Amino acid sequence: MPQRYNTILETIGQTPCVKIHKLAPKHLNVFVKVEAFNPMGSVKDRLALGIIEAAERAGELKPGQTVIEATSGNTGIGLAMVCAQKGYPLVVTMVETFSVERRKLMRFLGAKVVLTPAAEKGTGMVNKAKQLAQQHGWFLTRQFENEANPDIHSLSTAAEILQHFSDIPLHYWVTGTGTGGTLKGVSRVLREKSPGTQIVVSEPDVAAQIASGIPQARNTDGSPAASHPAFKPHAMQGWTPDFIPKLVEDVMLANNIDQNIPVSNAEAMSCSQQLAQQEGIFVGISGGATFAATLKLAEKAAAGSNILCMLPDTGERYLSTPLFANVPSDMNQEELSISLSTPDFQL
Ligand SMILES: Cc1ncc(COP(=O)(O)O)c(C=O)c1O
Repeated sequence: MPQRYNTILETIGQTPCVKIHKLAPKHLNVFVKVEAFNPMGSVKDRLALGIIEAAERAGELKPGQTVIEATSGNTGIGLAMVCAQKGYPLVVTMVETFSVERRKLMRFLGAKVVLTPAAEKGTGMVNKAKQLAQQHGWFLTRQFENEANPDIHSLSTAAEILQHFSDIPLHYWVTGTGTGGTLKGVSRVLREKSPGTQIVVSEPDVAAQIASGIPQARNTDGSPAASHPAFKPHAMQGWTPDFIPKLVEDVMLANNIDQNIPVSNAEAMSCSQQLAQQEGIFVGISGGATFAATLKLAEKAAAGSNILCMLPDTGERYLSTPLFANVPSDMNQEELSISLSTPDFQL
């Protein structure tokens, strides 16, 4: 059958599972699931489509109604694509510290971006989105609590993982958490359909909220009442907001986390660059962080183990961040001497 799609939305998901060669220890197999293959370059395209279509089915979202969400970027970019294709106006609230290219991408796709002060952290952008939704009657997607978020991961991401490992066992599945949608949606399916798989979660070492064992203070609607005491700012954009999302707490209460591995900012950035330079796999800081946790796990795992690491997004989203801080735009000495090595060189 010739492969043609009716809309771009049909291309979301079915991302590849790729084996790591140079960076993985030789006694086991490390695979990565490359979510950058989604049309807007991140795992969040899945959630965007899942939440909008669930709201359409439930009659909560009316034709032409404005959609609003608080997002560190990737959800907003995914939603901007989905809303553009389906004809919904979109407003996004975002902390001013997230990378500039994320804002520009959303605006390019037709969304409005409202920035919230850095001092108010993730909680500030969530509260602003709630207030705007209430005031204007907009549809608030509530990615941090909406069950349509884990549901789409159970239906798509988890089903793909089971298919990738239908002929060999999956011993470990490694992920980070943003909203917890990936973690909740995939972990519950693995627990049921692949009970031998250990679920491994990685957190920033400076914001190890899940590992801390300290409960999150909540409002009656499940939203966070205050920042979590174990939170400190970290470099893994899209990971670990300043509160434990309800979806993550659900997974903790269900005892669906087998191991928790802390990762530093420097380890994350180094792994992102190593994946690019040694495996040709181009991912963001959180992908580097998840891979750093995977390598720590691999050091201790039994020979012959199969490990799958989630890589949430593309590295292209981080050009203005510390990930690219040491990448010059001008020629360095080595490049200059290569250039000067032709006899007729003229600047
Ligand atoms: C950039 C980025 N987006 C998304 C996710 C996963 O998000 P969620 O927990 O919302 O499914 C992560 C987690 O690793 C991430 O780093």
